[in-house]
Amino acid sequence: MKELLTSTVILVILTAASTAQAASIYAGKSTAAAVCSQCHGIRGTSADAPFPPLAGRDEEYLEMALKQYRDKTRVSDIMNNIAGSLTDRDINNIASYYSRLKIR
Ligand code: HEC
Repeated sequence: MKELLTSTVILVILTAASTAQAASIYAGKSTAAAVCSQCHGIRGTSADAPFPPLAGRDEEYLEMALKQYRDKTRVSDIMNNIAGSLTDRDINNIASYYSRLKIR
C-alpha cells in the first residue's frame, strides 16, 4: 500500500511537471488580459502610436523582444519594468498566446 501511494505521488508529480513544460496559452491569456492589454490591446492593432500591436506576431520575435526588455539589452522604461518580473515560462506563455491570435 505504501509503495502504491509513493508511486502514485511520483506519477502525479511527473504529470504536473510535463504539462508545465509546454507553453500554456491559457496562462498567457490571463497575463495578457490583466497586464499587457492595458497598452497593447488584445486583438486590435493599437492605433496609439507608442504601443505596438502584439496579436499575430511571430512567436520567436515576441519571446526575443521580451527577453531583451528583461535583460535591458532593449531599452524602454515601461517595458523594462514590466518584463523584469517575467519568468522564461511567463514569456513562453505570453508569446504563444499573442502569436496565435488573429488580428481583427
Ligand atoms: C504601460 C503600457 C504597457 C504595458 C502594460 C505593456 N507594454 Fe509592451 N510596450 C509598451 C511600449 C510603450 C512599447 C514600445 C517600447 C519601445 O519603444 O521599445 C512596448 C513594446 C513591447 C514589445 C515590442 C514590440 C515590437 O514591435 O518590437 C513587446 C513584445 C511588448 N511590448 C510586450 C508586452 C507584454 C507581453 C506585456 C504584458 C506582460 C506588455 N508589453 C505590457 C507599453 C506597454
